[in-house]
Amino acid sequence: MEWLTSTAGVRVPKIIYGTAWKQSATQSLVAQALKLGFRGVDTACQPKHYEEPGVGAALKGFPRQDLFLQTKYTPLSGHDPTRIPYNAQAPIAEQVAQSCAISLKNLRTDYIDSLVLHSPLPSAKQTQEAWHAMETLVDSGKVRQIGISNCYQLSMLDKLYDLAGIKPAVVQNRFYADTRFDTGIRAWCRQRKIIYQSFWTLTANPKALASIMITRLAAKYQRTAPQILFRYLTQLDVAPLTGTSSEQHMREDLAIFEFQLDDAEIAAITELF
Ligand SMILES: NC(=O)c1ccc[n+]([C@@H]2O[C@H](COP(=O)([O-])OP(=O)(O)OC[C@H]3O[C@@H](n4cnc5c(N)ncnc54)[C@H](OP(=O)(O)O)[C@@H]3O)[C@@H](O)[C@H]2O)c1
Repeated sequence: MEWLTSTAGVRVPKIIYGTAWKQSATQSLVAQALKLGFRGVDTACQPKHYEEPGVGAALKGFPRQDLFLQTKYTPLSGHDPTRIPYNAQAPIAEQVAQSCAISLKNLRTDYIDSLVLHSPLPSAKQTQEAWHAMETLVDSGKVRQIGISNCYQLSMLDKLYDLAGIKPAVVQNRFYADTRFDTGIRAWCRQRKIIYQSFWTLTANPKALASIMITRLAAKYQRTAPQILFRYLTQLDVAPLTGTSSEQHMREDLAIFEFQLDDAEIAAITELF
């Protein structure tokens, strides 16, 4: 495993195991991923898509200090209305506090390495309120760093950054053509040493994966196209999430650190994005 160190001093693995949509298989898949060598786990206090208690159950036997645990506060609009984990009537700050308390219990830990705001809220004022509540959790020692997800407007990120007492350490976004692969946001993150995490990396990019360039490099390095894409991103200090359910793919995703693309190859893949 290769690691990045965030502005908050938190070590973040360069590839992170994602736990969405695994339902009752969550515990066994997370345990398998950790056994094979993943050390970072991404989840959310969002029962609609994540089985957070299953993630917590899978951590047993792994020293806490060796793990990077990331979870999210999901604003109301992201929940199944029949399964909102916190008091939906409570003020936003209280929702954030409740969500974090539930995550700590689910994950059987007394601190979270990275708490991510799952998406901006409907108004800038509400987003600010949630951010401030997350900062309070850092101040109390329950959370080591905070970040934001699904934020595709640079102006919004810029405003959040300027107003924040505690700056975002992570941006977690979909890596796809509609946003031109967040080229501007990734550069913005790089300038501020914010770690950019990608999701939908494989799902959204069948064209790039089938491109002549990636096919050629896969043959050269005797690797798969997904391995080339993941390796490319990690060499740019982007940390991709992988939610694979396949043991073979888990092994392949971890094996990306066994080879290195050269500068000309990095530049050639960049042409695709
Ligand atoms: N912040 C957000 O709003 C948000 C949204 C979506 C996801 N996420 C996070 O990101 C994680 C990953 O989600 P994702 O949407 O990127 O998709 P994903 O769950 O990783 O699935 C991607 C697809 O790629 C396949 N795959 C994975 N590794 C592979 C490999 N080495 N070779 C070939 N195929 C491979 C998987 O199939 P197999 O299972 O067969 O390998 C799956 O069909 C989630 O679990 C979640 O933690 C966050």
